[in-house]
Amino acid sequence: MSLKCVVAIFLLANLAFGVRYDYHSSQPVSKSLLTYYENLNATDTCTFDIAPCDPNEWRRLDGSCNNLNQPAKGAYFVPMIRLLDSVYHNGNEPRKAADGEDLPLPRKVRTALLKIGKSSHPELSQQVPSFAAYVLMDIASIHDIEKMLLEKTDCCEPEHMNDPECTPNIIPEDDPIHRFSGIRCLNLTRPQTYQDFHCTQEKVPSLIIRATPSFDSSPIYNQFNDGEKARTYKDGLLITEEENGRLFPPTGPRGLCLLNQAPKETRCYQNHLNSVLPIHMYTLWFYRNHNFIAKELAKVNPHWDDETLFQTARDINIAFQQNMYFYEWLPAVMGYDNLVKAGILNKDQGFRDVYDDKLYPVMTLEYNFALRWFHTMIEATSHLYDKEGNKVGDMPLLEILFRTGWVPQDKNEEYITNGFIRQPCHNPDHSIDYDISERGLPLVQRVLDLATSDMHKNRLFGLAPYVDYVKLFNNITVNDFEDLSPLIDEENIYKLSLLYKNVRDIDLMAGMWSERHMQGGSVSKTLGDITLDALSRSIKGDRHWYERPNRPHAFNKVQLKEIRKSSLARLLCNVGEGVGQVVKRGFYNVGPKNPLVSCSEIPQMKFSAWKE
Ligand SMILES: *[C@@H]1O[C@H](CO)[C@@H](O)[C@H](O)[C@H]1NC(C)=O
Ligand SMILES: *[C@@H]1O[C@H](CO)[C@@H](O)[C@H](O)[C@H]1NC(C)=O
Ligand SMILES: *[C@@H]1O[C@H](CO)[C@@H](O)[C@H](O)[C@H]1NC(C)=O
Repeated sequence: MSLKCVVAIFLLANLAFGVRYDYHSSQPVSKSLLTYYENLNATDTCTFDIAPCDPNEWRRLDGSCNNLNQPAKGAYFVPMIRLLDSVYHNGNEPRKAADGEDLPLPRKVRTALLKIGKSSHPELSQQVPSFAAYVLMDIASIHDIEKMLLEKTDCCEPEHMNDPECTPNIIPEDDPIHRFSGIRCLNLTRPQTYQDFHCTQEKVPSLIIRATPSFDSSPIYNQFNDGEKARTYKDGLLITEEENGRLFPPTGPRGLCLLNQAPKETRCYQNHLNSVLPIHMYTLWFYRNHNFIAKELAKVNPHWDDETLFQTARDINIAFQQNMYFYEWLPAVMGYDNLVKAGILNKDQGFRDVYDDKLYPVMTLEYNFALRWFHTMIEATSHLYDKEGNKVGDMPLLEILFRTGWVPQDKNEEYITNGFIRQPCHNPDHSIDYDISERGLPLVQRVLDLATSDMHKNRLFGLAPYVDYVKLFNNITVNDFEDLSPLIDEENIYKLSLLYKNVRDIDLMAGMWSERHMQGGSVSKTLGDITLDALSRSIKGDRHWYERPNRPHAFNKVQLKEIRKSSLARLLCNVGEGVGQVVKRGFYNVGPKNPLVSCSEIPQMKFSAWKE
């Protein structure tokens, strides 16, 4: 064989097997970089293969090939972008106040700005923060919490305080709760970066992310980047295991279920997240919904093979989630008119194509971070109701954290599901539920203050000062505390001015906790702005966006009309356990305008639209 021929075969082979990409830069990896990684034994961590893109293929599990010019953009483990440049002190330390001193302790900010207490939302139900948590898991990961609870558990021990992996929260001397408890420190680990894994030589800390940045139902299809493991490869179905007559994702050794109570509670998912109950419930519902859809498709198309059934069911299930998030959840939380005005909602409900291949599938760090604001909307005591609507008890959510095995037992699933339908969420009126901020995690942590961690992470993520975001979104230059009055009430401006010496010192989360809600919506104004920005990128940057008429395997007009029938009520009616009645407007409280009705009143997709 001639040399030319060998070279040609080599090139062809290369094309067929794909190209190796660098996660951090999302560009093909150079030979010298590969050598660098090899010397550090970091090749598998920092690089990945992308098989050649086919413009007509389905959305890939790992998110690659979404953008045909930049196939790595949109893939699992490719970094987020920032709306505003990072601000750190000395490399990776939290920024300082304008006068060079330390900023106030995160716990101090939290206790000053958020009161502790119960307060019920007049309109919105517990489904609102629950679905928000699930959606966050589609674009974010809990690697830092896992690290703190499993690997690096001793950050408050005096000898570990200066460990570079630790960054515990110090409790102020005059803390309203812990003045007398003897607790002086809350465990926390430093957010993991690409630098920690040797995946970049840049100096500015770059935070890792173990998720694809598109809304593609990662919690169902690719939570740990090995989504193919959940497939049966038969009839398009996902693997299920039966327990107490119900179907669940399979249990396996990797699961993290710290609080399962042996011997009864054994379930712990292998390929799916075991974490907080609201995420668990939505994962369960969308997981079962995949198989529900695949079976309906098989009825209308008995000749379809496994691959066609799986991909079509996945595509419909993702669109179900997207449509529910955009057309049902968002209007409830952010106001329909705001969303139409920002181009997030499509008023006429038909196709729309705003795809722009220069806007890659990306997620902003700010959006990923700002969703933590929803911690202030969680009512941490779950009310339990039976199928007939009788209240049968209460269950603190914290006691079901990392306890996947609890859900299949007895009638727990029925009680939780009917509770979510009937219970209002916490009203985010500058207050937070006691359990979110003052209680511990049984057996694991004496105290866990999620909101203080959020505040601390604000700085560890190197987010720019709050006033820079105010400028970005409102074109208001803030020089003085009084300049905040278009966004924040007098009383809260006063609180901020007691905490922070200079208005530029205010942290983004502190601003969002203090703000009035956006007009027509139920969330902080800046959270609203960050969300609108991120979602507009999602719609424009995702080649597989479900409303596009010319994406690969696009829905036709009739099918898209069926997709519009997706709703939370329909999801519960399809796959919920012991669901007696539901409300049509699934994210709103039960009331005269939103009465409980039977499932027969909830529109169902006609799968005959997919008949071939
Ligand atoms: C190299 O890294 C892999 C994981 O990526 C690990 O399993 C292996 O033990 C490492 N080898 C050395 C020599 O450190
Ligand atoms: C910090 O972690 C240690 C070890 O896991 C635990 O014993 C301790 O209670 C934790 N501290 C608090 C305040 O929860
Ligand atoms: C922002 O405000 C300045 C001064 O108030 C004004 O000149 C400028 O046009 C505004 N920019 C935008 C984009 O509205």
